[in-house]
Amino acid sequence: MRQRITKAIFPVAGLGTRFLPATKSIPKEILPLVDRPLIQYCIDEARAAGIKEFIFVTSRGKSALEDYFDNAPQLEKTLRKKGKTELLEELRQTDMESGAIAYIRQKKAKGLGHAVACAHRFIANEPFAVLLPDDVIAAEKPCLQQMVEAWEETRGNMVGVMEVPDDQISSYGVLDVKDDMNRLVAARGLVEKPSIADAPSRLAVVGRYILTPSVMRELRRTDPGVGGEIQLTDAINRTAMQEDNVYGYRFEGTRYDCGSKAGFLEATVDFALRRPELRDRFAGFLRDLPETKPEEKQVVAGALKAI
Ligand code: G1P
Repeated sequence: MRQRITKAIFPVAGLGTRFLPATKSIPKEILPLVDRPLIQYCIDEARAAGIKEFIFVTSRGKSALEDYFDNAPQLEKTLRKKGKTELLEELRQTDMESGAIAYIRQKKAKGLGHAVACAHRFIANEPFAVLLPDDVIAAEKPCLQQMVEAWEETRGNMVGVMEVPDDQISSYGVLDVKDDMNRLVAARGLVEKPSIADAPSRLAVVGRYILTPSVMRELRRTDPGVGGEIQLTDAINRTAMQEDNVYGYRFEGTRYDCGSKAGFLEATVDFALRRPELRDRFAGFLRDLPETKPEEKQVVAGALKAI
């Protein structure tokens, strides 16, 4: 039988310093986009793609994440008593079957590659997914599901990619393109955070990966790279060189960098405008802001049309 992807790793050990002081006492992944924590979007996306086992790589101070996915018997009892069935239904989305979710501590902040490698005991000789919760992707068909469907044809390793402007390319892992087949792009290799001059393309890796067990093995012998950190990109790159099985997938959807304040705010606006109960009032508010310039009003109008 062909292998399916049922396990996903969520690296959530970061300190979230860009969101201090909010993240002094709560993990960044619990910050809400409208009314749902960042992590919930990622979990829903993984579930839609068929993921059954969720592996969180955490650090000190992230216990609120564990509580979030636990039962809340007292709260549920109170809601039941008050007949709040809709809210109970909402809460059910946060319910994780015992044993479907595992937490591993990354004891030292040694980079994304190291965080993923911390989960190696949970991954047998099987392909697995990695999702970075900072990257929130609004899409009709969830991004990882699009990728899994494409991966059924290619197998090997697959990373979500999107075109980015020149001045942003050095913030990403970048694809060295071998064969551009529209949505699917065969890669010769990957480079982590290159300068504009060294960037082999403008196709940037976003935080969605489907990886082979070879990458996990590579990771465990990967030395620190850019920024002195063990880079996931470097291990994928080495696998690409040896096995020639790395693909980029140009997903359909809009990606928000919720690791930055501006990205988080943009995502908040987009997701709020997608909610029928908020849309009219919120759109009106944006349109009528005295400071809103005509071109910004156009952006709001455009966003509403696109939804
Ligand atoms: C990480 C990866 C990078 C990728 C990016 C996507 O970088 O190392 O290859 O392009 O996520 O969000 P970070 O944003 O953690 O610096």
